[in-house]
Amino acid sequence: MKALFAVSECAPFVKTGGLADVAGALPLALARLGVEARVLMPAYPAVAALGGEDLGGFDGARLRGVRAEGIDLLLYDDPALFARPGGPYLDEGGRDWPDNAERFAALSRAAAHLAREGVGDWRPDVLHLHDWQTALAAVYLRARPGGPPCLLTIHNIAFQGVFPPDLPPRLGLPADGFTPSGYEFWGQVGFLKGGLTAADRITTVSPGYARELTSPAFGMGLEGVIAERRAEVEGVLNGVDDAVWNPAADPHIPAAYDADTLPRRAVNREALAQRFGLARSPDAPLFGVVSRLTRQKGLDMLLDALPRLLDRGASLAVIGSGDADLERAFRGAASAHPGRVGVVIGYSEPLSHLLQAGADCLLVPSRFEPCGLTQLYALRYGALPLVARTGGLGDTVIDANPAAMQAGCATGFQFSPIAEGPLGDAIDRACDAFADVALWETMQRNAMAQDVSWTVSAARYADIYRELCAA
Ligand code: ADP
Ligand code: GLC
Repeated sequence: MKALFAVSECAPFVKTGGLADVAGALPLALARLGVEARVLMPAYPAVAALGGEDLGGFDGARLRGVRAEGIDLLLYDDPALFARPGGPYLDEGGRDWPDNAERFAALSRAAAHLAREGVGDWRPDVLHLHDWQTALAAVYLRARPGGPPCLLTIHNIAFQGVFPPDLPPRLGLPADGFTPSGYEFWGQVGFLKGGLTAADRITTVSPGYARELTSPAFGMGLEGVIAERRAEVEGVLNGVDDAVWNPAADPHIPAAYDADTLPRRAVNREALAQRFGLARSPDAPLFGVVSRLTRQKGLDMLLDALPRLLDRGASLAVIGSGDADLERAFRGAASAHPGRVGVVIGYSEPLSHLLQAGADCLLVPSRFEPCGLTQLYALRYGALPLVARTGGLGDTVIDANPAAMQAGCATGFQFSPIAEGPLGDAIDRACDAFADVALWETMQRNAMAQDVSWTVSAARYADIYRELCAA
């Protein structure tokens, strides 16, 4: 089985969030199941530096092939569109690139072309698309008969790629598709909308989010489209790359540990406290956050609940970047509570690992969360996750309620409804549990024993590919 992934970011090369983690880990897990995946992505400067073999031209761009970190990359090299400083979607000032429609339509056209024609003698059996940036490939593919089946995975429906209606001629989209049952979305061009109507199958990244997506509160205007395709929509939970996220062999943390050597975590906790300027506080939990700072992540509610956390003698370490007002508010909290709240505004892979290895409890109070990966890393690292009961968070954390405690299977804390009060109550519950050392360690061992690997879900994707090819 051969699968062509088309994606706009891929760890460890280019990453803005969990999409990159999935694009970097799932192909490796699929390879273990005999699925040969190649990953088509733009030749941003960071990946262009990998070099690679020239595999021919398409649409005025070059295609290059290179194997790096065990992944077969196909780089779509169009310098006019992708050789720029800044991020994959935003310029250095944090504004959307004005030509994002052209950039990702070009990537999507290349994906459809390669799905149909293959690369040399490598011919994909299935095309696997991810989010709005490559969703249009399904539309391009279906514009002509033939070509392999195509699967579209929704990682976050909040990002839909909606652009002005004068684009279609420039993008080479089939004109007759600009209708409500095609890529038209309230008079605009909807990249994700187009993909959702044209793909043969749709997955999203957790069963919980798959259920939520049919409701207006979560579907963000696409709930009707999702509901119409209900029979072809499935939630497949993300996994973690357990070579990258493994506390027993993590180059970014001072003390390696596993479930049998939990006391060694104290060394990482100490290092974390020092790095974030926190005072020693062995008797109350050290809470951590690793997150984009956006409304989705609900961290404004954490700021509101902060007095309750501090009242309990707990402390907080935050690494994140995003919206300017949230960055400002977290910086403000750090200066208002020196030694108790430590904040690093920025993006740092090493610090995110140290935080998972040193924090007692990882906070993820998201308003919605398609899957969430940080709580999975936290389970693996024994930083008990405290999460909002939504999407993939609800699917992956077992709340320390009386029944779960009695059954001895709790792995963290959930709160619902998603508001400051219930978040504060959950923080209280975590502080109470932390005071019971034996209980806390049992929960940590439960968390670390939970299978958060890709094993089960990669097998499901391989089955979906087979079902699509057989159809
Ligand atoms: P999302 O994709 O919505 O941002 P996920 O939880 O799926 O949320 O994935 C976030 C990924 O980005 C994780 O790998 C997390 O460790 C990483 N991450 C988020 N913010 C930072 C940061 N400031 N520094 C380092 N890593 C970060
Ligand atoms: C998106 C979602 C996140 C998910 C990630 C990977 O960024 O916000 O919940 O884990 O994609 O699928």
